[in-house]
Amino acid sequence: MTSATVPSSSATVRVPAKVNLELLVGPVREDGYHNLSTVYHAVSLFDEVTVSFADEWGLEVCGPRAEGVPTDGSNLAARAAQLLARAGGVDEPVHIRIRKDIPVSGGMAGGSADAAAALVACDHLWGLAMTREELEEIAADLGSDVPFLLAGGTAMGSGRGEVLAPVLARGTYHWVFALSDGGLSTPAVYAECDRLREGREVPEPTPTPAMMTALRSGDARALGRALTNDLQPASIRLMPELGDILDAGMEYGALGGVVSGSGPTVAFLVEDTEAALDLAVSLTASGAVQDVRRATGPAHGAHLVAGPRPS
Ligand code: C5P
Repeated sequence: MTSATVPSSSATVRVPAKVNLELLVGPVREDGYHNLSTVYHAVSLFDEVTVSFADEWGLEVCGPRAEGVPTDGSNLAARAAQLLARAGGVDEPVHIRIRKDIPVSGGMAGGSADAAAALVACDHLWGLAMTREELEEIAADLGSDVPFLLAGGTAMGSGRGEVLAPVLARGTYHWVFALSDGGLSTPAVYAECDRLREGREVPEPTPTPAMMTALRSGDARALGRALTNDLQPASIRLMPELGDILDAGMEYGALGGVVSGSGPTVAFLVEDTEAALDLAVSLTASGAVQDVRRATGPAHGAHLVAGPRPS
């Protein structure tokens, strides 16, 4: 779709999913969150969010992964639009339509992605022209991952994940994602992680040289070896079949495998497009995996694909 083919009373934003290449989790903080040192990487699985002027606020979800997404005010995209309206002093209701292709409760930040997309779309529709910093501040209030979904690419995250810093990363990476039928609750996975580490001294997390070197060199093999996720043991404890899926992917030739965020999606890094196709076929044939998706990264953050031209 181009700007010319949609009515100027709506704006459509495309937004990617994310995987954490490195997710190091510090001790639990007083506010219940954990300090993180993470490397976010946006990948080419996309949701599309369209906002249109309407008589009253509304939200609908369509597309291949619409099932299980809330359509009431608890949807993060709806909260994003309301928060932006308040910040911008806007009193113009919008209807939000989410075309969902990112797995729901899959550890790929699908809900956060929709919130980031809603911010960009509404900012455009309402003609607010907020700065990136202003949008990032609202994004951080919505969730730890939301600022990154505005930015996209590959970036370091610290604080509870909302503080972004650039990272020197070369190359395009090929991924195969093994999706699970059920979802995992992020708070439940963090709580299980705390439980598993009880009585142990947990250091403040800092980026590892292995990950930084791999990204700087653009070496997929080194990156495959460096993939790390401190939440992985907790996700596997809550969903033991994830361990079997990781084993299967490595056996079928992946360069590396890691649970994505809090899971249950498992991300496998492979050499190229052909290797991605081979691994996707093998994982599907093994019966160990319900659904697979191929993608590449890094991908751009939330960006307008259709809408009114700026005046
Ligand atoms: O920030 P967000 O709303 O996405 O976080 C969801 C939940 O994940 C939090 O309520 C918390 O339980 C957990 N979390 C955490 N530490 C972080 C990020 C998330 O404990 N850095």
